[in-house]
Amino acid sequence: MMSLNGSIRVPSDKSITHRALLFGMMATGTTRVVHPLLGADCRSTLDIIRSLGAEVIEKQDELLITGIESPRSARLDCGNSGTTMRLLIGLLSGYDGSFELVGDESLSKRPMRRVNAPLREMGADVKGDLAPIVIEGKTLQSIDYTLPVASAQVKSAVLLAGLRAEGTTIVREPILSRDHTERMLPLFGAQLTVDAEKGERIIRVEPSRLSGATVDVPADPSSAAFFWAGAAIVPNSSVTTTDVCLNETRIGFLRTLERMGAHVIISNERTIGEELVGDVTVTTSELSGTVVEGDMIPSQIDELPLFALVASQANSPSIVKDAAELRVKETDRIDVVVSELRKLGVDIVGKEDGFIVKPSRLHGGNVSAHGDHRLSMMLQVATLVTDETIQIEGIDASDVSYPGFRQDLQQIQREIE
Ligand code: S3P
Repeated sequence: MMSLNGSIRVPSDKSITHRALLFGMMATGTTRVVHPLLGADCRSTLDIIRSLGAEVIEKQDELLITGIESPRSARLDCGNSGTTMRLLIGLLSGYDGSFELVGDESLSKRPMRRVNAPLREMGADVKGDLAPIVIEGKTLQSIDYTLPVASAQVKSAVLLAGLRAEGTTIVREPILSRDHTERMLPLFGAQLTVDAEKGERIIRVEPSRLSGATVDVPADPSSAAFFWAGAAIVPNSSVTTTDVCLNETRIGFLRTLERMGAHVIISNERTIGEELVGDVTVTTSELSGTVVEGDMIPSQIDELPLFALVASQANSPSIVKDAAELRVKETDRIDVVVSELRKLGVDIVGKEDGFIVKPSRLHGGNVSAHGDHRLSMMLQVATLVTDETIQIEGIDASDVSYPGFRQDLQQIQREIE
């Protein structure tokens, strides 16, 4: 039997890296991105800002971006990255030019209407509610928009369009989604305010010209989550993940682990730029089942496949509900999580908006990552809770957000006598 023991700085945050690259392209002068994530998704964004005219110099663990006044017309390949496509639709619709956005097979099935609808109200000319998306730049009007889904991508697309619209653009959020865009835009000189009124978060942005900034990217909590989960469920484990972004809109999964009885210690808390950062140590302990629902969902949406695995190792059943968004991620994450975990002996039942997991003993089997990075990593963690062999087809999918995951996971495994 192996346990997980040690300390690791997982790769940098995907959401923050995408934003730093895109804002850097729009800004006058130079933007420094320190510790960028260079997984496949962020590489898509990087290639795109180059195609649009930005100059990017890649140094050791740092990118230097020289921004542009106005992007040149181009056909842009967003690969597997929903964040790239959705943020760009908003960003580009207010610039002169013609842009075509394409993606891989998975991205070409993901809904873009949620972004296109508010942008069209602003006067954008966006064709295609599934990729390929064609944008003809137009003069935009501001909008007062209440998000119908808790989506940081939709929120960010409208705010980026708002930077180039006439008048004050307002986005209202009944349920808080990750807030990196609102935190980072003012660093680039955008005029943006955030208020809370009557249970809503209200973000107001004025037409603004961005200027270059420095963004130091912390480690990605959605990547650290795999080590937290492993440490929680693999006997005799204790893992510290350092420099992790502790933004509350991102660490719902850590809070869920704590609620289940996991032993969690947060230390060395500090701020980097506009983000709270710290070291997180998780040590094995007995876990009980829990319910994840409602406004808890957005802060752990990407970790819910992993939660299904953790829940299978608890001593009582768990439920996830209000998470229908899982069905429109890189895969239908309800269907694929249920089908693959069942192959390993997990008692899990899918629902329209979530799943129910009962305590289970895992066994070996042949499973598939379905081209989904988070599924690949969850299944790799699953291999640690059975002595039987689990064969994962398409394991390399993890490179999308975490190049080197397999090696990192191996590196902190220790044989227990
Ligand atoms: C992201 C927002 C979330 C998340 C995705 C990254 C972002 O998507 O699932 O991995 O960087 O804005 P939604 O906006 O669709 O909720």
